[in-house]
Amino acid sequence: MNIEQLGYLGINAQQPEAFSTYATDILGLQPVRGDGDRRYFRMDDHHHRLIVEPAEVNGGAYYGWQVADSDALTAAADEVQRSGVEVTAATQEELEVRRVSSMVHFQDPGGHRVELYAGPSRTSDGFTSPRGIPGFVAGDLGLGHIVLLSDKFAETQKFYTDILGFDVSDYMIEKPFSAVFMRTNPRHHSIAIGDASFFGAPNILHHFLLEVEDPDDVGRSWDLVVERNVPVTMSIGRHTNDNMFSFYVESPAGVNTEFGSGGVLVDEDTWQACEIPGPDVWGHKH
Ligand SMILES: [Fe+2]
Repeated sequence: MNIEQLGYLGINAQQPEAFSTYATDILGLQPVRGDGDRRYFRMDDHHHRLIVEPAEVNGGAYYGWQVADSDALTAAADEVQRSGVEVTAATQEELEVRRVSSMVHFQDPGGHRVELYAGPSRTSDGFTSPRGIPGFVAGDLGLGHIVLLSDKFAETQKFYTDILGFDVSDYMIEKPFSAVFMRTNPRHHSIAIGDASFFGAPNILHHFLLEVEDPDDVGRSWDLVVERNVPVTMSIGRHTNDNMFSFYVESPAGVNTEFGSGGVLVDEDTWQACEIPGPDVWGHKH
């Protein structure tokens, strides 16, 4: 199976209005007119990359992975079904909400809702950030990355590699927690699975990363976060594996956002998956 990119991310928010202000004023995403209370946010030429759904419980809702076309989607859905996982075709309403031409969904072993889709809606209007951020690193690399916690760690990791075709970029064992970082395009990881037992947390979306082109926009955003008293989860730092220069804040939907720049791209000819000694070169203090 060839998944091209992490195309969209759905988040449930008890306070969608507060999340909306966070997405535009802090993260610098462009709001797109939605339907009803649902909100869409852009970061490149895709109609949206983030969908915020009003909900009673905060957290990650669904994760959209793009394949080349409807034939690739049919083949991918068959492959998942053959592995013994129940696959459901999207309703017309779901297709309209996601603005895609076709989609199927199923659950990973941790219960996270995975959506495979083809035919995203795009726009020729240029991206305009309400905060004046010139550009996000997205396009064919996808919207960034997600980190999901799973209490079926080994099984979930195997599901993403063996069934969905992700490649392991590197992994961390118990120091300070266990996690596997996986790619589906040159971005070092589009998804990481963390062992939920180390976090004392259930199967949740731990964070999503947005990457800006200019590292100074990480610095400017950090100033803004401090000035506006946005809850900081981890201070500015640099990761050992993807080299991301970033900080983490808590969104109004509970889910953390990693806001960074400078992530490495993997060269398939030379990259070797290995164990990393820990997550940080410096910083990222709690
Ligand atoms: Fe991250």
